[in-house]
Amino acid sequence: MSTRTLVRGGLVVTAAEETHADVLVEDGRIAALAAHGSAAAAAWTADRTIDATGRYVIPGGVDAHTHMEFPFGGTFASDDFESGTRAAAWGGTTTIVDFAVQAVGHTLREGLDAWHAKADGRCAVDYAFHMILSDVHDSSLKEMDLLVEEGVTSFKLFMAYPGVFYSDDGRVLRAMQRSALNGGLVMMHAENGPAIDVLVEQALARGDTDPRHHGETRHVLLEAEATHRAVQLARVAGAPLYVVHVSAREALAELVAARDQGLPVFGETCPQYLFLSADDLAEPDFEGAKYVCSTPLRPREHQAALWRGLRTDDLQVVSTDHCPFCFRGQKELGRGDFSRIPNGLPGVENRMDLLHQAVVDGHISRRRWIEIACAAPARMFGLYPKKGTVAPGSDADLVVYDPSATQTLSARTHHMNVDYSAYEGRTVTGRVETVLSRGEFVIDRRTYTGRAGHGVYTPRATCQYLG
Ligand code: URP
Ligand code: ZN
Ligand code: ZN
Repeated sequence: MSTRTLVRGGLVVTAAEETHADVLVEDGRIAALAAHGSAAAAAWTADRTIDATGRYVIPGGVDAHTHMEFPFGGTFASDDFESGTRAAAWGGTTTIVDFAVQAVGHTLREGLDAWHAKADGRCAVDYAFHMILSDVHDSSLKEMDLLVEEGVTSFKLFMAYPGVFYSDDGRVLRAMQRSALNGGLVMMHAENGPAIDVLVEQALARGDTDPRHHGETRHVLLEAEATHRAVQLARVAGAPLYVVHVSAREALAELVAARDQGLPVFGETCPQYLFLSADDLAEPDFEGAKYVCSTPLRPREHQAALWRGLRTDDLQVVSTDHCPFCFRGQKELGRGDFSRIPNGLPGVENRMDLLHQAVVDGHISRRRWIEIACAAPARMFGLYPKKGTVAPGSDADLVVYDPSATQTLSARTHHMNVDYSAYEGRTVTGRVETVLSRGEFVIDRRTYTGRAGHGVYTPRATCQYLG
């Protein structure tokens, strides 16, 4: 029995165009679009009709950087796949790409199997995986090829966190060389970890133990230097490069320089770098711990460069790097020693709304909002046009978005499993009203109607920005 849903009267916004169109959904896919009032649209019948008058109809968000249950600093990110994907749905995100972790001494397969076990049967929306490479050697390099073939087509390496996830330049180069052969995309955490560790040790020895020293010791130039090095290593390897969570304007300048030379170098930033700053990290009474993440929040002056980078397409993607730790019991592990504060911020529920606020504020256009939050991440990570657009044949991952509603972001009302909001008390214009995932109602006029296990694992093609 086929199920048909009709979304009538809305403004359909994709990265490419804005059209006053009705959308017909059939069996989990978008079947057709037709102009409001057209003969074609008038002839459609459906089991359910959504009135989207005065609303946008947009593709479900694609958040290409999340860390559900991520192990860090002796604890685990507080959202699991069930709570985290439910919160994603509330925020209009219908696909996440999470990071499976290869632990040192283990194979990629073991890491990937472990992440499948965490996610299987628990997700409210669809999900895919990147792989974190923590132990680059001959056999893990060979395993990369197998993962690419089965749809895990991107690999995160860390120039930071010595002793945990860190890879030295030789290992980075070898992984890049392999990705140049197998079509994978290296995602780089670009910070000079060994140099940062020296600054951290010196700061702690001076008694500078507050959260704000997290930002100062993770120096802007050590992000820029690592970004430069990553670009050069990728050139030597003949590989494309995607730099995650870019926060410093000096690091962005390295990406701009590379792209100006025509190199296949891509960049991502996150809402926290666009809307928060080192001022938040400097909040007294250890409150700054809520804002400890890496790369760190930067002084406010960096934000203008990031917005510009998003407008000029020197940055292609905005992901959340959602990696929540509760203030009580988790962030508190670093009282008296900022280096022990688990790194990461909550945000999977807030991204679409914050970026819509950027439209309202005039930083980006409405179509660019959809591009950086839906279409570009889908293309970057081989999910387009199944995900990231509203077009016949695409999955019916749709958000009916009310652009005029206002809401105040707060831990009291959010759905992420974390005891604070990084955006507490911030009022934004725009709100998710209804969410379909493959045609099923996950949020129905602000009521959660989804279920754990609806979301399915989605293997990916390779990066679609490359020839
Ligand atoms: O602070 C962060 N970003 N935590 C998650 C791990 C990472 O580096 O992305
Ligand atoms: Zn990182
Ligand atoms: Zn991350």
